[in-house]
Amino acid sequence: MLIINILILNNRTKVDTIESKIQLNSQEFLNNKKEFEKILKNYYESLEKAKLGGSKVATEKHKLRNKLLARERIDKLVDKNSPFLELSTFAAYGQYADQFPSAGIVTGIGLINGREAMIVANDATVKGGTYIKETIKKHIRAQEIAMENRLPCVYLVDSGGVFLPEQAEVFPDRFDFGRIFYNQAKLSAEGIAQISIVMGSCTAGGAYIPAMSDESIIVRNQGTIFIGGPPLVKAATGEEITAEELGGADVHTSISGVCDHLAENDLHAIEICRSIFETLPKPIKFSIDRIESEQPNYTSDEIYGIAPIDLRKPLDPKEIIARIVDGSKFHEFKSRYGTTLVTGFARIMGYPVGIIANNGVLFSESALKGAHFVELCNFRKLPIIFFQNIAGFMVGKQYEREGIARNGAKFVHAVATASVPKITIIIGGSFGAGNYAMAGRAYDPAFLFMWPNARISVMGGEQAANVLVTVKQDQLKADGKTINNDEIDNIEASILRKYEEEGSAYFSSSRLWDDGIIDPADTRKILGMCIEVSLNRILNEPKTGVYRM
Ligand code: COA
Repeated sequence: MLIINILILNNRTKVDTIESKIQLNSQEFLNNKKEFEKILKNYYESLEKAKLGGSKVATEKHKLRNKLLARERIDKLVDKNSPFLELSTFAAYGQYADQFPSAGIVTGIGLINGREAMIVANDATVKGGTYIKETIKKHIRAQEIAMENRLPCVYLVDSGGVFLPEQAEVFPDRFDFGRIFYNQAKLSAEGIAQISIVMGSCTAGGAYIPAMSDESIIVRNQGTIFIGGPPLVKAATGEEITAEELGGADVHTSISGVCDHLAENDLHAIEICRSIFETLPKPIKFSIDRIESEQPNYTSDEIYGIAPIDLRKPLDPKEIIARIVDGSKFHEFKSRYGTTLVTGFARIMGYPVGIIANNGVLFSESALKGAHFVELCNFRKLPIIFFQNIAGFMVGKQYEREGIARNGAKFVHAVATASVPKITIIIGGSFGAGNYAMAGRAYDPAFLFMWPNARISVMGGEQAANVLVTVKQDQLKADGKTINNDEIDNIEASILRKYEEEGSAYFSSSRLWDDGIIDPADTRKILGMCIEVSLNRILNEPKTGVYRM
């Protein structure tokens, strides 16, 4: 009896381990890898450029003032040899004549005295650290992540406030500049600590950043805080005053009380901030059955030979999962049903998770399976990882009649109402309502990253071109006219060009539709960090609305 049990157990363990079918020496694998290496080369070159920040002249000027650069400040602030998960490095990429690398602000999650924290650092080498639309979006997104995951925030302030020529894009609307300070009040009310270090300018509305923080530090002869700078004061009242006299470190630590700690330089200020972290209460994470992690049975760089470049080619997502999850073990759920969606349980860095991955177009059955699986994870309190590579939902008479809209709605509903953390990685295509069902940005995933090969748009360029040509043909037909081939070619070419440009991962990341573009080989490590961070949240009890049956 015992022997039989062991045999069954061994057999089950074997079934649960994904056996890769990829031939590493096949031409197909090698060609894909070669193509992917080109994509990666471009990715790393662009990343490096974005991380340089502002112009050489601005950087030199900054250094001559004995100031550390934004990323150097972060490097000194976080624990030695600990990882820093930088978010949205490609914000504003390809916009504003590329004058705003990373949108002039660096955000990300790092460890300060062993404590996870959200860090938001202005890059004063980029137009004086001023805020354009994407800077604000990035700052607000960082606060949103901090709020959901109860992360203390550190603001490294060095900014001239709003980028004045863009005022109509940044000033008055709901999620514009003012939202930053609104969020500070809300974070504070939730008991989430916020510390500011004023390391440079902190002008106008920006003055509220330290003023609304729990504790603030200011650097002598370097940090200034004022609601109106010297030129404005002169214009308004005729008073002539230096910046230091108006709002320097001495004034704010001994007279106004806007700041609590005086630092001699950047490093000293960082040291004070780290010591404040020692006084913060320990976070309480929700309990999850973490065990010791094991490496996948396949190396992560093999993903380059498999990752989808030509999105028309099918990809078995289990080949990707095998290279990301612990021991390549995957306890698949409903493996024989709704097979265009792969669902199952696994561990990443020892954390138990549910995984949902696309394996083709979504049909009614796959949508129902997805909804069922989300419910399982929700009730078992397991984070859900979505691997998006989705062309959309199936179209056609048969599918409409069997109620694909109704069934797709169940999946979308389950994803929208799930209270467990959702983490989305767009590994290939992200098209149409498939983006929604697979926890796209509108579905509030805790984090959403894209691989550099990934593409995102309402539909593929070719389909969009076909739709628009048909619409035009129908319009003309109603007037008794026809469209000629040249006109068709023109419509198609312009739409294809537009979709080609707007569908790229860089276009998306530039506009903060995601939290960043990542190297596929880093996916496991990044997921591990994101899961750990997401355990700080307070989970609501599962609650759903009306499912259309
Ligand atoms: N809007 C638009 N551009 C601004 C700006 C603002 N608020 N503040 C600075 N800039 C631009 C400058 O024009 C300059 O652009 P350039 O590189 O194309 O010439 C660049 O940012 C750097 O400014 P500069 O003054 O040369 O750098 P600095 O390090 O000596 O000073 C500031 C930086 C931010 C302290 C200083 O520029 C300043 O006080 N700006 C005005 C701040 C203000 O009143 N803001 C109110 C907004 S609500």
